[in-house]
Amino acid sequence: MAAPRVQPIGWKDDRVVILDQTRLPQEERYLTCGRVDQIADAIRTLQVRGAPLIGLAAAYAIALAARGEGEELPTRVASAADLLRATRPTARNLFWAIDRMVSRAEQGASAADLLEEARAIHREDAETCRRIGEHGSALVPEGATVLTICNAGALATGGDGTALGVIRSARAAGNPVKVLACETRPLLQGARLTLWELLRDEIPATLITDSMAATCMQRGMIDIVITGADRIARNGDTANKIGTYGLAVLAHHHGIPFYVAAPMSTVDLSLADGSQIPIEERRPEEVLGFAGIPTAPKGALALNPAFDVTPAEIVTGIITERGVLTAPYDTAFPDG
Ligand code: MRU
Repeated sequence: MAAPRVQPIGWKDDRVVILDQTRLPQEERYLTCGRVDQIADAIRTLQVRGAPLIGLAAAYAIALAARGEGEELPTRVASAADLLRATRPTARNLFWAIDRMVSRAEQGASAADLLEEARAIHREDAETCRRIGEHGSALVPEGATVLTICNAGALATGGDGTALGVIRSARAAGNPVKVLACETRPLLQGARLTLWELLRDEIPATLITDSMAATCMQRGMIDIVITGADRIARNGDTANKIGTYGLAVLAHHHGIPFYVAAPMSTVDLSLADGSQIPIEERRPEEVLGFAGIPTAPKGALALNPAFDVTPAEIVTGIITERGVLTAPYDTAFPDG
């Protein structure tokens, strides 16, 4: 029997409860946040992560701010929104969720209305994942091995996940798909999180280091690549976890379909192409060591862009809740 779906975020006793993803897989520890700045810190440090989930965390943080005291509700909400917008720059869903909450507050919503709005975003995200899964599973060949990177699963959304939602949906339909998961240096979301949630659901999954993807494709071990996305420009260029672009180039070379699975709230119609997507640069220390242990000599320099951009021309299709979209994306994306 598979375990019930993990709940990476929730609202309990007027607090936001967050599963601390930096502790996984060693420990399932929950943080209880009563203040917006605690949630902002949790987003910045990746205790809560994944584009849809950080949008959800920000929505609950704003619901929390609305219940506070002192200034007028719209002022409290506006300063919470400023703090949250400054946490991580790439995930479109963060800004989408904040804007939705702020606009409700500006229209005169009460604290109770704003909590209901955050809950609505949560429910809608679960339904969106379900639809992405349904549309995407039709693309997965019988018994396929699916390559993925980072974690675009239940730990990254309010539902079953985007890329992993497709895999779950295929399995639920009786397709015995298997997963190869890239470990995802530097923070190992693939190893720590994707493997954790797939093993929990008894979905066959095998870990590879990021540099093994090329040889696995050359050996014919991969039938399809499915990844999540943090932000998609109007032309379909897609920002996702660092390493995704390399997988897309490899898939293109080997003639393997490369799909992006993402909700429409990840699409940023205001950006003409991927060169305009803000890419988060994180601390070099994340590359120079792991879990506080140095893996490079003292004084070494390191780069640490958290995301890269895959050009639309090597994306086979984008799996959304509205269906599977293909190029030209600027006409395929519905407005708003
Ligand atoms: O830095 P992270 O762990 O937040 O990066 C997450 C990803 O790159 C995911 O693939 C993306 O947010 C989609 S999650 C459904």
